[in-house]
Amino acid sequence: MATEKSVMVPDTRVLLDLRNSKGHGFYCFKYDELYLYALRPSMLKGSNNKDKIKSIKEAELKDDDIIICAYPKCGTHWLWEVIEMLKSGTIQYQKDVKETRMMEFIFKEGIEAVPPPRVFNTHLPLRMLPTQVVEKKLKCIQIMRNPKDACVSFFNHCRDMEKPYGYDGDFAEFTEAFLSGKMPFGSYSTYLLAWKAEVAASPELPVLNLFYEDMKFDPVTTVKDIAKFLSLRSTDQFCEEVTLACSFKKMKKVDEEMKVGLPIKLWKDGTKGTFYRKGEIGDWKKWFTVAENEKFDQIWNEKMKDSGFEFTYTPV
Ligand code: A3P
Repeated sequence: MATEKSVMVPDTRVLLDLRNSKGHGFYCFKYDELYLYALRPSMLKGSNNKDKIKSIKEAELKDDDIIICAYPKCGTHWLWEVIEMLKSGTIQYQKDVKETRMMEFIFKEGIEAVPPPRVFNTHLPLRMLPTQVVEKKLKCIQIMRNPKDACVSFFNHCRDMEKPYGYDGDFAEFTEAFLSGKMPFGSYSTYLLAWKAEVAASPELPVLNLFYEDMKFDPVTTVKDIAKFLSLRSTDQFCEEVTLACSFKKMKKVDEEMKVGLPIKLWKDGTKGTFYRKGEIGDWKKWFTVAENEKFDQIWNEKMKDSGFEFTYTPV
């Protein structure tokens, strides 16, 4: 691995410089072998990024907390809304944005302050979550997505984000960072392999593994599976209502019309940054050249061989 250099970034102190030879890329901090976005000092209330992330492990959790685990852009927003509706038994959208329940954004203090019943979400690996997740055998739901669509979605997200978090390279450069892991949350392959190994090391942890593509193909069945896993008595009709209420179109509209935004500026001026972009399977075909696709397959398959993960890349 190339040596890491540090750089002074305005307002976020000294960070690791993960830019490529063209000077495009991310500035991150590293904790427990993982690159992460650094929050601005003004958001850390006198602490620092590493201590805040470290604090998550000590967070006190409640016996009925639910944890959504996912690599970025794999469908966390969608799953969160579905679970909240199933749990409450009502078709009511969350007014808050997802980050208000995101462990690596709110840290120990924020986690403990969320009023029950609580559905958290995180992009962190299991080893960095509160130790009580495993101790209390809390229900964890992992949502996975084919890596090419996840890469396209993550590129659009990062490109539209405000500096110093935003990405300034092109899609091909981003794909290299996505595969090599020189970016926030590291590479998706490393995330998945860690998830598999860390879950295997905690066999009593109740885990439901879902795929974004299954949720698209047959959302009602997936919603029913979620209800069953959470031991909720939801009727077929209610599961269908939840499915409809959580369609891409409905959720995008709700996001635009009623969500209370974050108290920070997330998107770059002049962009239409959104968490609800297209919501499709196979959009990657519009982004990868034939050569880029072949290279992606080669690197991804090499990293994931024998892992047992299989993805769906095209809509049926
Ligand atoms: P695209 O950028 O491909 O459109 P996350 O919630 O983990 O940040 O993932 C965001 C991705 O999920 C985005 O993908 C977004 O459009 C998609 N998404 C969000 N809500 C969805 C829904 N109800 N149905 C399908 N896709 C959804």
